[in-house]
Amino acid sequence: MKMKAYVRPEALYPYRDWSLAEEAYDDENNQRSESVFALGNGYIGMRGNFEEGYHGVQGKSVTGNYINGFYDSEPIVYPEGAYGYPTRNQSMLNVTNAQCIQLTVGGAPFHLNTGKIHSFNRELDMKRGFLWRHVEWEAPAGGRVKLNFRRVVSLTHKHLAAIQVEIESVNFAGEIRFHSFVDGKIAAAEVTDDPRLGAGGGEPNLILERMAHMSGLAVLKQRTRHTDFKLVTAISHQVQGQTDFEAEEVSENERIGTVFTLKLAPGEKAGLTKYISYHTSKDDAEEELEYLAAGTHRLALDLGMDRLLEEQETYLKSFWQHADVEIKGDPALQQGIRFNAFQLLQSVGRDGKTNIGAKGLTGEGYEGHYFWDTEMYMMPFFTYTQPDIARALMDFRYGTLDKARSRAAVMSQKGALFPWRTIAGEENSAYYPAGTAQMHINADIAYAIKQYVQATGDEGFLIDKGAEILFETSRFWTDLGYFNETKGGAFCIDCVTGPDEYTAIVNNNTYTNLMVQSQLNYAYETAQRLRKDHPEAYERISQAIGLTEAEIEGWHEAAARMFVPYDEQLGIYAQDDTFLSKKKWDFENTPEDKYPLLLHYHPLVIYRHQVLKQADTVMALFLLSDKFTKEEKIRTYQYYEPLTTHDSSLSPCIHSIVSAEIGDLEGAYAYFDRTVRMDLDDINKNAKDGLHTAAMAGSWMSIVNGFAGMRMVDGALSFSPALPAQWESCSFRIMYQGQLIKVSMGPNEASYTLLEGNAVSFKHKGEVVTLTAQEKTAVIQS
Ligand code: BGC
Repeated sequence: MKMKAYVRPEALYPYRDWSLAEEAYDDENNQRSESVFALGNGYIGMRGNFEEGYHGVQGKSVTGNYINGFYDSEPIVYPEGAYGYPTRNQSMLNVTNAQCIQLTVGGAPFHLNTGKIHSFNRELDMKRGFLWRHVEWEAPAGGRVKLNFRRVVSLTHKHLAAIQVEIESVNFAGEIRFHSFVDGKIAAAEVTDDPRLGAGGGEPNLILERMAHMSGLAVLKQRTRHTDFKLVTAISHQVQGQTDFEAEEVSENERIGTVFTLKLAPGEKAGLTKYISYHTSKDDAEEELEYLAAGTHRLALDLGMDRLLEEQETYLKSFWQHADVEIKGDPALQQGIRFNAFQLLQSVGRDGKTNIGAKGLTGEGYEGHYFWDTEMYMMPFFTYTQPDIARALMDFRYGTLDKARSRAAVMSQKGALFPWRTIAGEENSAYYPAGTAQMHINADIAYAIKQYVQATGDEGFLIDKGAEILFETSRFWTDLGYFNETKGGAFCIDCVTGPDEYTAIVNNNTYTNLMVQSQLNYAYETAQRLRKDHPEAYERISQAIGLTEAEIEGWHEAAARMFVPYDEQLGIYAQDDTFLSKKKWDFENTPEDKYPLLLHYHPLVIYRHQVLKQADTVMALFLLSDKFTKEEKIRTYQYYEPLTTHDSSLSPCIHSIVSAEIGDLEGAYAYFDRTVRMDLDDINKNAKDGLHTAAMAGSWMSIVNGFAGMRMVDGALSFSPALPAQWESCSFRIMYQGQLIKVSMGPNEASYTLLEGNAVSFKHKGEVVTLTAQEKTAVIQS
């Protein structure tokens, strides 16, 4: 659908460079704010729920606490099953809520729907990595207090989070009580018809095993229903500003905690710091969990809140040094791009055992599953700004390679087929036309490996793990595809779905075939290179997987003879063998309220039309940009653009990048604008269910690959910057083979600065630029 001139909606949150803020409490938008004010460290995720709980309108709050990779697995019930359908689902669990601190002022419980709020401010500080909230509140019967909350999920201590609440009496004299506890009774999300949400369940998520107070810790141990994973949640406390207080250990039902009682006079202050830890049997032996929790709390009590916050700021300083993007001339976009980078960091698993879900750790949408979103959207951001994290994401895939081998066998194929959606490595897609059929995930992973290795120079990864993934997935392709006599003996791949989920089970999806071709060539070259330069590694891998010379030659041949559908008359790449012969969707007569189409039309109605949910062939134009001429790009883009609904949030950023490449900066800008503030402006009206992680990463690509035109072709880095007319300047940083480069775009010039490292070369609009320790900066006039 042709992008209408994009009109940015009125700000839901004030535009600020380094923070996200709220200046009033609004019940109506509470659930959305819980998503955008979420905190996380890639392991623990906490929605921005209020410590005192939510007392507003029903259905406007989801209490959410998540642990990356911690899931339960229920049987999938198919009324009409078939061989090879996944039998069990993996679903990220909403776990024990440790955010709870109920407060009473002279017996009156504090919450935002009672008494009088004199002021309310909340802010997510992205430079320092914590959330604060100030409320000045008056109890219904009088008694005014100022409350300051600070909350941090530690980026340096995986298992640790902390909350501090400080209370200052304005005119109140009397008793204050803090009841701080963990709540183990969390009901599963409701069942809905929206496929983008979780399947839901209704039963409690976790079963209580034991609760105990032990040497200052309150400990709750639970287990999952089906996977039998154990979770130990523990809390400990420090009281500030008062020595005269009572502490009573309490537990009831599935809640355990402590009630602190103290007296306050006008002008006096008191504070409570709560440390929270989560340890699970997915990481450590069950018998160790309580012991490990005790260790985490000793560390936390020793550090205290202030030191924890200092550590957080130090961590983030280094993060921003590598990942910051500055946009001068538009504070809304500046805020958006920083928010996106920050949320990506908060959601990404960094331990090699976990990954990054479609909604990060901010909500249960898509059940916490990891998709191709990781390799095609999130990985570029990490590869070029935080390569260690990118490496951990690749380690995750390697760790699940055996499961991918089993999946290929179930699909009657050799080699390995990675799951379309998963948490632990098993295929979880219950709807195979827009699930298992998206076999392009194998080629996406191969693409990400190549990009990672070329951008970082981490050959060690390729030798230890990457090559084996490449070889096994290449083996899959040559077994799946065949030389088709009816197509002149070209290599064809039938019955797959490309990225566009509005067109399913087709022969020769162009995106897939081109990505497979690129993968097979890379696998072939890698095999040759390993054999020559690392014969032992080559021997080890080929022995382990029984690789033969003939197979490797087969990759080369399949790549050389790959079938790519092209329409001579239109001069464009066809999305697949039959797409161009279908009827075009009647956009004219489709009212606005029928979008997204997937919620209003049966899949077959959609499948038999020329209509796209998201960029497909257009995505290939970007990813394999050296394979197309500019004219082909323009014609192909112009054909698909009017047919694309962007019903997937993964789509606009890709259109932004390709628009920029073909010289349509206005179009690129409009698509970028709508991507970068997708959640802050709640464009898809579902930020309440969790953030759109791939779109966030896509907005970074729109700047780096779009406006700055960054490409990596045959291992050579190049830029072709063009600053949108709306901006004064824009700059970002890129890690390339261990060197940190700052790229700045102005209206009339581009400049490159070597921030870390000794020397680096790349191209600017075709000309070689070299930066060295002596000549760190190059300024090029346009
Ligand atoms: C998109 C997929 C994506 C998934 C998870 C779907 O709506 O069509 O491409 O992987 O969402 O983000």
